Amino acid sequence: TSNQMWGGRFAAGPDAIMEAINASIGFDKRMAPQDIAGSRAHAAMLAATGIITDSDAEAIREGLLTVLSEIDSGDFEFSTALEDIHMNVEARLKEVIGEPAGRLHTGRSRNDQVATDFRLWVRDQLDAAEGGLVALMQALLGQAEAGADWVMPGFTHLQTAQPVTWGHHMMAYVEMFGRDLSRVRDARKRMNESPLGAAALAGTGFPIDRHMTAEALGFDQPMGNSLDAVSARDFALEFLSVASISAMHLSRFAEELVIWSSAQFRFVTLSDRFSTGSSIMPQKKNPDAAELIRAKIGRIFGANVALMMVMKGLPLAYSKDMQEDKEQVFDAADNWMLALAAMEGMVRDMSANVPNLEGAASAGFSTATDLADWLVRETGLPFRDAHHVTGTLVAKAEGKGCDLPDLSLEEMQEVHGNIDASVYDVLGVHNSVRSRMSYGGTAPQRVREQIAAWKGRLP
Ligand code: ARG
Repeated sequence: TSNQMWGGRFAAGPDAIMEAINASIGFDKRMAPQDIAGSRAHAAMLAATGIITDSDAEAIREGLLTVLSEIDSGDFEFSTALEDIHMNVEARLKEVIGEPAGRLHTGRSRNDQVATDFRLWVRDQLDAAEGGLVALMQALLGQAEAGADWVMPGFTHLQTAQPVTWGHHMMAYVEMFGRDLSRVRDARKRMNESPLGAAALAGTGFPIDRHMTAEALGFDQPMGNSLDAVSARDFALEFLSVASISAMHLSRFAEELVIWSSAQFRFVTLSDRFSTGSSIMPQKKNPDAAELIRAKIGRIFGANVALMMVMKGLPLAYSKDMQEDKEQVFDAADNWMLALAAMEGMVRDMSANVPNLEGAASAGFSTATDLADWLVRETGLPFRDAHHVTGTLVAKAEGKGCDLPDLSLEEMQEVHGNIDASVYDVLGVHNSVRSRMSYGGTAPQRVREQIAAWKGRLP
């Protein structure tokens, strides 16, 4: 039998394979709440503009609530023959309220309907991401506050560079996730326009009120061009781009946690709640959550690329290709939210191994730059010359198998005659970080100022 929604011109029903490739209900049923909210707003508008009667609109709006509660309670039977969430809901509405259900689709198409549903869904996810990012940033602020003074090695090329503070390192991620947060808010602002009422592509001859439905659904305004409204998926791509960048940040921190929790580094201990064991090696405590967060960037970025590929070269307006947008976005959203929550939990629970951090901070001649800076300040050497003198001292210490502060004053003076005993003050890691008072620098005082500034900015 042919389709009850559009079967008029069809003599035969679809092949089973046709049904399988065509149906989206298996995944787009997740948009049921958005679909029903959109239809309720549309029905109210149809009545307000006199396109359908108040009593029909009332029946439709009530009936849709019944359908929603059936879906919520798991009683709803989704049908592949009905293709997608839009037709599943409408068909059930017909069973529940009868004839008025057939008036709901006046002045509307599935093209503007799906664009509306999907925007509402993505908007909800942006709100959830905002919550997840804020919670993670709060956890990082807690760590930063606890360890504003703890000294640890700062790396470039993963080689010891200069000492930094734990708080400074945590706050670096607060800045990154703070930019993710602002990208989330930008994306939300830009995408918050209503496609509803664009109908199939050209608008409609019915005297609809697009401003009314836009407002009812919390959109700032209706989209200005009906062709664009049903064709655009850049809001979904922007969501995936923002998610990709954020997941990239998460993966970098995850990688650091994997390294930091190793027996060789022992900078942090991850909690039992966020670690796993080994089925063979009894001593193992593995940072699986961090590893999986590190990996999530792969599927999230993959979704971004996949949807870019789907959309590229598509002529206006709607093409069925665009049905491929949802699974990518659903999967990316689920995994981004999970990664944010897991990272928040790990950060809240982890404990820094302060003596180890401080011991590692002075390894690898980490205060060599402080020595060069001292030579500039106290002896008037140009920085390039001071750099050379310091390099010679490092080589000397390396040859002796000792640290810079272990060189005697005489040994230092053999390399440069004007060095005096006050040089030893700058060779300690605590003095080193305390001296980095430039704006945004690692000095504990600067880090505390950053923490206070971010606390004032977060909800
Ligand atoms: N399931 C479709 C999608 O997700 C809904 C829109 C279908 N529109 C159409 N003209 N066939 O894109």
